[in-house]
Amino acid sequence: MIQQTYIMIKPDGVARGLVGRIIDRIESVGLAIERMEMARVTPEEAAANYAEHEGKPFYQGLIEYITSGPVVKMVVSGEEAVLVMRKLMGATDPKTAAPGTIRGDFGLSLDANIVHGSDSPESAAREIAIFFGQ
Ligand code: RTP
Ligand code: MG
Repeated sequence: MIQQTYIMIKPDGVARGLVGRIIDRIESVGLAIERMEMARVTPEEAAANYAEHEGKPFYQGLIEYITSGPVVKMVVSGEEAVLVMRKLMGATDPKTAAPGTIRGDFGLSLDANIVHGSDSPESAAREIAIFFGQ
C-alpha cells in the first residue's frame, strides 16, 4: 500500500552535515520526498509531536533538544513507507541499531539519534498535520 510518513532530520543530523547522506538513503530505496523544509521546531510543535512521552524522565530533555537548532522536515511517500523508513532508521538507541541503518551508522546517543520517523500511518497523519498543516 502506498503510504506517507513524516520524517525529520533532528538538530544533530543537520549540525553534523548529514542531510545529503540521509536523503540519498531515502531516495535509494525508491521512496519519494513529497515535501521538505528546513525550520526550527516550535515548543508547541514539539509538545504535540511528543505528547505520548509527557511525564517520562527524558521528556524535558527531548523537548529542549528537538527545539535546539534547525531540523529538516519531510513528507516521504512510497510502498509501505512507514515500515520501510523505520527499517532504514534502525533501532531507537544507536548503540543497538544495526550497521547499515542511519542510526547504526551515524547516531551518537539515544538523545542524538539523527532522525525521527512516524511509527504508524495514524502517527504519520497526525505528525504531518502538526508540522505542515492540513
Ligand atoms: P522517534 O520518535 O524520534 O522517531 O524515535 P522512536 O520512535 O524510535 O523512539 P520513541 O520511543 O518514540 O522516543 C522518542 C525519542 O525520545 C528519545 N528517547 N530517550 N532517554 C530515554 O530513555 C529515551 N527514550 C527515548 C529518543 O531520542 C527517541 O528518538
Ligand atoms: Mg517515536
